Amino acid sequence: MNLGFIGTGKIASSVIAGICTSKINFKKIIISPRNKIIAKNLKQKFKKVIIARENQQIVDKCDWVFLSVTPTIGNRIIKDLKFRSTQTIISFISTITLSQLKKMIKVRAKIVRAIPLPPISLKKGPVPICPPNLKVKKFFNQLGTTVEIKNEKSSINFWSTSGMMAPFYELLRVMTDWLVKRGVKRDNAQKYITSLFLALSEDAVVNSKKDLKFLVKESQTPQGLNEQGVRELTKASFYKSLEKTLNSIHKRLNK
Ligand SMILES: NC(=O)c1ccc[n+]([C@@H]2O[C@H](COP(=O)([O-])OP(=O)(O)OC[C@H]3O[C@@H](n4cnc5c(N)ncnc54)[C@H](OP(=O)(O)O)[C@@H]3O)[C@@H](O)[C@H]2O)c1
Repeated sequence: MNLGFIGTGKIASSVIAGICTSKINFKKIIISPRNKIIAKNLKQKFKKVIIARENQQIVDKCDWVFLSVTPTIGNRIIKDLKFRSTQTIISFISTITLSQLKKMIKVRAKIVRAIPLPPISLKKGPVPICPPNLKVKKFFNQLGTTVEIKNEKSSINFWSTSGMMAPFYELLRVMTDWLVKRGVKRDNAQKYITSLFLALSEDAVVNSKKDLKFLVKESQTPQGLNEQGVRELTKASFYKSLEKTLNSIHKRLNK
């Protein structure tokens, strides 16, 4: 099976890195020449990667085609590509809906929307897909954890929370800089903060059957530091503003 990528940017290169270091069985990965530098790097790194001359060549040669361009470019180029009804087309494009994709693709191919995130390069993280599709589910389960979503509208909720990746890293950055300002060496500060949050995330996954509020409670001792942390941040509307931002991202995706 040949896999093709229209658009070779951040998310395509993360997915390709994941695939090429996984047990997924495929013949070749054919990528678009754009972005040129990323495409060249991928070809150098992984021997099964080939750079196509243009987008139609990818569609012609591949069984599965991943759409990994921005919405503006997608709206411009997808309608001019000639797909086959035997193909599976997986769109990573944030704001183009299934019905819009169907109209642009024209033939009755299998069309699935997916939301991989950059840690897929490490074969980690959730991959919501919509509508459910067994083969696509199995594929992404080898690159992370597939979450099947029946209703496209509900996938927007997942999209909204994925807008919190950069804020999460910003949180780590602020805490690391805070330690540095107090004289801690940067590499020690960063090692401490990143391994603390890795451990907390692993603990949350291991306890994922419990309601998260128990973890919040269990990690506080009465009058302790964590109790002060939650209380002061709550009073400062830190969590309310998190929710407010999620709402406004959701609103933007729902347009
Ligand atoms: N980044 C994420 O975490 C993430 C996660 C899930 C989904 N997505 C979605 O995935 C899509 C791509 O996001 P991204 O972050 O990977 O964006 P990106 O890094 O900007 O990648 C877009 C790619 O499209 C290429 N491109 C532009 N015009 C093209 C054309 N006519 N034909 C083929 N390729 C063309 C760009 O090449 P040039 O650089 O040469 O212009 C670039 O390589 C978006 O719709 C985004 O919403 C992103």
